[in-house]
Amino acid sequence: HGPAFIEDLIGRMTLEEKAGQLSIMASAIGGAAATALNPPGRGATVRAQLADARAGRIGAIFNGQGADWHRRLQEEAVRSRLGIPMFFAADIIHGFRTIFPVPLAEAASFDPELARRTARAAAREAAAAGLDLTFAPMVDIARDQRWGRGVEAAGEDVLLGERFAAARVRGFQGNGLAEDDAVAACAKHFAAYGAGEAGLEYNSVDISELRLRETYFPPFRAAVGAGVASVMAAFNEINGVPATANRWLLGHVLRDEWHFAGPVISDYTADAELIAAGYAADGRDAARRALLAGVDMSMESGLYRAHLPALVKAGAVPIARVDEAVRRVLTLKARLGLFDDPFRRLAPGREAARVLRPETRALAREAATRSVVLLRNEGGLLPLDPAGTGRIALIGPFAAGQHDLIGPWNVYGDDAQAVDLATGLRAALADPTRLVVTLGSGVEQPLAGGIAAATAAARAADLVLLALGESQQMSGESQSRTAIVLPAPQQALAEAVLATGRPVVLLLKNGRALALPPTLLAARAILVTWFLGTETGPALADILFGIAAPSGRLPVSFPHESGQEPYYYAHKPTGRPAPDGPQQPYKAQYRTTGNTALFPFGHGLTYGRIRYAGLRTSASRLSGEGAVTISAEIHNDGSRAASELVQLYVRPRVAAATQPVRRLVDVQRVSVPPGGHATVRFTLGAAQLRRLGPDLRLDLAEGPIDLWVAPSAETGLQTVIDYAV
Ligand code: IFM
Repeated sequence: HGPAFIEDLIGRMTLEEKAGQLSIMASAIGGAAATALNPPGRGATVRAQLADARAGRIGAIFNGQGADWHRRLQEEAVRSRLGIPMFFAADIIHGFRTIFPVPLAEAASFDPELARRTARAAAREAAAAGLDLTFAPMVDIARDQRWGRGVEAAGEDVLLGERFAAARVRGFQGNGLAEDDAVAACAKHFAAYGAGEAGLEYNSVDISELRLRETYFPPFRAAVGAGVASVMAAFNEINGVPATANRWLLGHVLRDEWHFAGPVISDYTADAELIAAGYAADGRDAARRALLAGVDMSMESGLYRAHLPALVKAGAVPIARVDEAVRRVLTLKARLGLFDDPFRRLAPGREAARVLRPETRALAREAATRSVVLLRNEGGLLPLDPAGTGRIALIGPFAAGQHDLIGPWNVYGDDAQAVDLATGLRAALADPTRLVVTLGSGVEQPLAGGIAAATAAARAADLVLLALGESQQMSGESQSRTAIVLPAPQQALAEAVLATGRPVVLLLKNGRALALPPTLLAARAILVTWFLGTETGPALADILFGIAAPSGRLPVSFPHESGQEPYYYAHKPTGRPAPDGPQQPYKAQYRTTGNTALFPFGHGLTYGRIRYAGLRTSASRLSGEGAVTISAEIHNDGSRAASELVQLYVRPRVAAATQPVRRLVDVQRVSVPPGGHATVRFTLGAAQLRRLGPDLRLDLAEGPIDLWVAPSAETGLQTVIDYAV
């Protein structure tokens, strides 16, 4: 089913059939999360959708429920005049039935290979249930933590964004789309969705081309480089032109520069939203603008079906452009093997046999343990002794219950399959009666008598585990927050429990960075636990009892206060540096807060005690296309083996366009035995240092370049080398 077959089909298709191929519609029978966010089929009935399939009016269906339903639709599609099969898409963001940690959490592993493996496992489960394409990975850079959708991507850093984008594409697409355990990936949302003004969902973006190219484009480019099958256009506008109608973005950048050949899919009714955005006069105009800009498939609005045939007949849209879009969709279907066997991912019984398998759950547990970040561990409070005799009070709205474990944007996940914290801890304790559980508060509402019960439990205990944070409804799509703090009732609970003076381990549940006020820092240990998925409880027990040591690092900076947002480590310096610049009152500094993070990007402790020493470079000068080796010794002064994620940051002191105060260029993980040390070596060449100038050409000026080998973006050992052409 090569190009000749596809051209022959195109030659035989009516305009209406072509418009049908370019329409992707929400399933009339949908998964629960999809139903909440995107009402199924905007009222399309099962009968109407089957009739559309039979008439060739639908190219693809998304977020449908169950292989049986997909099979019925496919049977109708193959009975249509030309027998063109549909593809079935869904938002498989962090797992299908086995739910892995949210992507932001997985990014905390700083290990793209882990993300490749979980994406592979998710694809295997999803493909077994009849799905052909996932609307993932989401590769938007998130530098404003008020924005809710950062939870679906890899954080604030460009290097992490690139590496995780490519890894997730490879994981979903496996050994090739023709394999029956692979799903096509869709890099989204192109572009700069995370740069919406004030962190507000769907908001407009006014941004320089330099910043687009250096910060927001690279993960998309990496996804394209990894062979991503499709791309989704973003909802937002960029510099006055909505992404969905942006010829420069979808045509010049994506096609001409990056040579992307797959279909571009609109976001949900985004073409129709061109009207409200003030960029199209009506539905006809919106369909025309979106298609001409480069959107090949229209999601859910029905505008292509309604208007493309008439637009072509009126000469307002060239048939060649319609054919180009149809060609891309049919080629994807051919690559997915659907012309060879439209039912290849729809084998009866396969789903039940392939989902929630023990090895997939084991991977979910591994991924969850590796996503946890230990922010502080005063006096080595952690790990706890599972065979000890002290009483443990587990307090907080996330202490027990299967809610808020699997996290936002999971269409097919089942709370009932997820293991909660209390269950995980009890299973690990030699004497489970040591654990006393009380909620203390609701997530956003106080609980009558909750604080009194919680403080009583705390006083009667030797140690408190305080499970606080955001519910899964508080991050994700359309969940922008003005203050990235704990809800007030939980803050009150925390203060009351901390006031008992018992040692407290704070377990934070969050889909973004949080600002932690000084009162919370009285907790002796703090763990960031995100939304860890199906195996939340066992994974947290592994960490708390030292079966696994924490190894995650923050993929987003935790500020002192919400008002610092957007706060990201790779910010630009000013001419009036703060806080360690010359003493002068007129400098870039808030009246009450420093320009630092509370817990910086890259920060994360383990149970060993790590110390950096002996930073060396193989030469003091880097010339032309040569390279220098940078080495450092990583010591472990603790009594437990440690795994350390060593980060290399750079900053050319002078450049054609000003550079961030630091930029991550590489990471390495080393194992360090207790009382021992390991040597880490990085190789750095000019290619990693070159940046775009204001003329958008790559540039590296001669002069000094600061280097840091560091455990986080705001600490570490520093040296300098000289660059000469
Ligand atoms: O894939 C999603 C997108 O991220 C947000 N709008 C709906 C799409 C389909 O569910």
